[in-house]
Amino acid sequence: MITFRPMVEADLCRVLENELRSYAYPWTHGNFVDCLRERKDCQVAELAGQIIGHGVLSFGAGEAHVLNICITPDQQGRGHGRVFLEHLLDRARCLGAEMVFLEVRPSNRAAVELYESVGFNAIGLRRNYYPAPLGHEDAQIMALDMRSDFGSGAL
Ligand SMILES: CC(C)(COP(=O)(O)OP(=O)(O)OC[C@H]1O[C@@H](n2cnc3c(N)ncnc32)[C@H](O)[C@@H]1OP(=O)(O)O)[C@@H](O)C(=O)NCCC(=O)NCCS
Repeated sequence: MITFRPMVEADLCRVLENELRSYAYPWTHGNFVDCLRERKDCQVAELAGQIIGHGVLSFGAGEAHVLNICITPDQQGRGHGRVFLEHLLDRARCLGAEMVFLEVRPSNRAAVELYESVGFNAIGLRRNYYPAPLGHEDAQIMALDMRSDFGSGAL
C-alpha cells in the first residue's frame, strides 16, 4: 500500500532521480531545497519502503497551489497518482484552502485527465510558460473549488 510522509533533504537524491526520469524539463536540486527551506508542504509517496513519488503544495490566504506531483514512470498507471493527488487535496483542505490551483502542459494528457477527474476546471492560459522542443508551450491554469461537492471530500 502506498504511504505518505514529509520530504526531508536526505530524500533528495531519490526524489531527483524520479524527477529526472519523469519530466523532460525537471526541477533542479536547488528547486527542491528552496521548497523545503520555504516550508512548502513537500511530501514523498512510498511503496514497500521505496520512494515512488513526490509532491509539493504551497498554501497562503485560503489558496493552495499544487506545484509538483510526480510518480516514477515504472509505477505510473496503477492508481498511485490519483491517491497521491487526493492526499495533497486532503492536506490543502486541512490547511483551510478554499481554492486549489495548478498549472499543467495541455500536452500532458495523463495529468490533465487526472485533474479533470477530481473536479479541476480550466480557468485560463499562461502563454509560452513552459520550455518546449520547438520554443515554448502554454500552461493551462486549472482550479478546484474546495467548497463545491467535488472539493469537499466527494473524490
Ligand atoms: C500525472 C501522473 C502524476 C499520474 O499518475 P499515475 O499514477 O500515472 O496516474 P493514475 O494511475 O493514478 O491514473 C489516474 C488518472 O489519470 C489519468 N491518466 C493516467 N494515465 C493516463 C494516460 N496514459 N492517458 C490518459 N489519462 C491518464 C486517468 O484519468 C486516470 O484515471 P483512470 O485510471 O480512472 O482512467 C504521472 O503520470 C506522472 O507523474 N507524470 C510525470 C510527471 C507529471 O507530468 N506530473 C504532472 C505535472 S502537472
